[in-house]
Amino acid sequence: MKVAFIGLGNMGFPMAGHLAAGGHEVTVYNRTAAKAEAWVAKHGGACAATPAAAAEGTEIAFVCVGNDDDLRSVVFGADGVLAGLASGAILVDHTTASAGIAREIAEAGGDSGIGFLDAPVSGGQGGAEGGVLTVMVGGHAATFERARPVIDCFARAVTLMGDVGSGQLTKMVNQICIVGIIQGLSEGLDFGRRAGLDVSRVVEVISKGAAQSWQMDNRSGTMIEDSFDFGFAANWMRKDLRICLDEAGRNGALLPTASSIEQNYGRLHERGEGRLDNTALIRLLRTP
Ligand SMILES: NC(=O)c1ccc[n+]([C@@H]2O[C@H](COP(=O)([O-])OP(=O)(O)OC[C@H]3O[C@@H](n4cnc5c(N)ncnc54)[C@H](OP(=O)(O)O)[C@@H]3O)[C@@H](O)[C@H]2O)c1
Repeated sequence: MKVAFIGLGNMGFPMAGHLAAGGHEVTVYNRTAAKAEAWVAKHGGACAATPAAAAEGTEIAFVCVGNDDDLRSVVFGADGVLAGLASGAILVDHTTASAGIAREIAEAGGDSGIGFLDAPVSGGQGGAEGGVLTVMVGGHAATFERARPVIDCFARAVTLMGDVGSGQLTKMVNQICIVGIIQGLSEGLDFGRRAGLDVSRVVEVISKGAAQSWQMDNRSGTMIEDSFDFGFAANWMRKDLRICLDEAGRNGALLPTASSIEQNYGRLHERGEGRLDNTALIRLLRTP
């Protein structure tokens, strides 16, 4: 299939690579052109000067940029993806963004006969590199069925959750669940250290019981070592929590824990630690 990929960041670069490896004809666009050139040097395909030019003549255009505003700037306008796609084509957005922008894009594309799926991912950079992401999708079932085999190139689970916006809403639940665990793990590890325990041994023991979690299995070691120069950035998690809090403002959900953790990420950002992995929350307890 002829496809386009817009946004070759930590996630998009390997995701687009899996599309090429899957036999698709890929045209890429990246704001910083050097990354697009590096991608073509590694995977073949072509690069374009604008999102519209990349999308032109493709059946599916994928996007993976930072936030709502970034999405607006690559999707709308004369140089935007929607301007390049023809009627019958599909736009798949892998950015973690609001459900509102998903509906806005779906409506704008719908006017020109372009299908839209909001399809945020979970699994991190490692999942993108390994082609084993979890993808939660919102949109029409027929559009989903057409895009699904292509999304499969970089995913191990692709699930339609409901109408447009449902993918983003599902990702919000994901982030709300994760941050509570990271904060709890931070508090437990810091408490254990201050109590004079060997926290690595504590984790070894309690990870075999009800305290076990993905974060405990995969991140407690690096948290104990105070190593955070990898992974999903604290600033990205803060952005995601703000989206959740905005949505909660509309649907009436109470998010006392997520709300206080959003402030903690704000403090990390102010301390210049916003680019560290999102498990750096423990630093606020170590050196308040
Ligand atoms: N990293 C993870 O572990 C992870 C996991 C799950 C979900 N996500 C989500 O996936 C999305 C991408 O994350 P990432 O880690 O790949 O981010 P990233 O490495 O910072 O890459 C962001 C990409 O978006 C492009 N971009 C940003 N603003 C733009 C704009 N205004 N116009 C055009 N292009 C723009 C950047 O272009 P330049 O190269 O020119 O800067 C870059 O290609 C985010 O929504 C994030 O929350 C990330």
